[in-house]
Amino acid sequence: MHLPDLEIAKKRNKSDNKYIELKENYEPVLKGKKYFLRTYGCQMNVHDSEAIRNYLEALGLENTSDVNNADVIVLNTCAIRENAKDKVTGFLGKCHYLKKHNPNLKIVIAGCMSEQPDVVNEIMKKHQYIDIVIGTHNLYDLPKLLIEKFQKQVIEVYSESDEVIEGINYTRDSKYTAWVNIMYGCDKFCTYCIVPYTRGKERSRKLESIVDEVIKLKNEGYKEVTLLGQNVNAYGHDIGETFSHLLECVAKTGIERIRFVTSHPWNFTDEMIDVISKYKNVMPYIHLPIQSGSNKILKRMNRRYTKEEYFELFTKMKERIPNVAITTDIIVGFPSETEEDFKDTLEMVKKCEFDGAYTFIFSKREGTPAARMEDHTPMKVKEERLQKLNELVNFYSHASNQKLLGKEVEVLILGESEKDNNKVYGYTDTMKLVNVNGPKSIIGEIVSVKITDAKSFSLDGDYVKEGVLS
Ligand code: SAH
Ligand code: SF4
Ligand code: F3S
Repeated sequence: MHLPDLEIAKKRNKSDNKYIELKENYEPVLKGKKYFLRTYGCQMNVHDSEAIRNYLEALGLENTSDVNNADVIVLNTCAIRENAKDKVTGFLGKCHYLKKHNPNLKIVIAGCMSEQPDVVNEIMKKHQYIDIVIGTHNLYDLPKLLIEKFQKQVIEVYSESDEVIEGINYTRDSKYTAWVNIMYGCDKFCTYCIVPYTRGKERSRKLESIVDEVIKLKNEGYKEVTLLGQNVNAYGHDIGETFSHLLECVAKTGIERIRFVTSHPWNFTDEMIDVISKYKNVMPYIHLPIQSGSNKILKRMNRRYTKEEYFELFTKMKERIPNVAITTDIIVGFPSETEEDFKDTLEMVKKCEFDGAYTFIFSKREGTPAARMEDHTPMKVKEERLQKLNELVNFYSHASNQKLLGKEVEVLILGESEKDNNKVYGYTDTMKLVNVNGPKSIIGEIVSVKITDAKSFSLDGDYVKEGVLS
């Protein structure tokens, strides 16, 4: 079989049509082989995995959930904190064992770890059996590289393109709720964060192309889309567009539910608040990371807002968007965080009464400015702070869930409940998880549910059929 020159292929297979050309040429090499895909990290990676799945399946590979049976293992990695990296290196031990017993097994490292040259070097030295390392910007090269790999032994590392790719196909995890990438990368350079280095600069997709994708999803029966970006509300500044305009255009498609993550407080405009409150199909739920309640730490994090500015925005949202739920991210133990700074964070949690929060201990990422800052706080103190913070955060999320007791809420039912397969589960408009007593036939529907119990992280409820409990 003739393989085109690598350089030419790299330029050629950037759009899906060209990719099909490639598939037709090489399908026989991979047909019937099995792939195992594991995803680490954020929604961006979850959605990238849907693209990876599509590439693999278009080549004739079949999914397996048993790693022992795989011909190809793809690890879509995350680099946000050290423990994300540890999880991947831990799993690589298993991969090494499998490869020893099956030398034809191909191991692929994708995702954010692949975009860190030092980490890649370290891993490649230690795990020389890895076949492909592919960057977040070059996923579309995966089919080409895999085909090559099954024919000859070379290691390829890619990460140079900053193009916005339109028309990617996805094998989506759900038939009812879909991720829609609206932009890639991040320009914020918060001093602790690796994302601007692993995902590149901010690039927005074309507005028409996003709206077309949403219309297509709606026509396929999807009830909900989540607009996705590291900094979703910075959308458009590079192409003369705004997020509020995009959100309004997406709302006008009439799709039943629209969500968006993650918003940066610095980019949140009044126009966005107007659109969220005006359109019923834009869900009243905002994930608005605060990171710290101390102005000194916020400054050192390069977050571009003070706690006062955050609270002003927060209050405006609460006043103008009926029943809005607001969740957040918080880091404790940032270099030079004192007990006073930490108290300021607790104070902000008390003032805001967040509906939920993801909390983290600062993790040093090589190459970021914060990695060079002096940090004298012992880990034990950081762990105590995290525990204290979690207690407070859980108190408020429990209180916010309690407010729904006895109420009827609308829930998009997504599938069988993991804990109890006699139940189904779904999310309220405010993104609260509900385990529902109800028939499987309501999966994929937006239904009324009467809330019967409220915990910190989830709710229980009964399906209400046209005003009557089922
Ligand atoms: N783009 C989003 C999310 C980025 S990653 C945003 O800007 O909010 C998700 C969360 O991980 C961040 O909000 C932050 O709270 C946390 N995080 C990022 N880097 C971290 C680090 N080095 N150590 C600990 N937590 C970190
Ligand atoms: Fe990281 Fe900050 Fe960008 Fe979020 S906004 S991805 S925390 S650099
Ligand atoms: Fe991790 Fe990359 Fe997302 S570092 S959190 S997978 S953008």
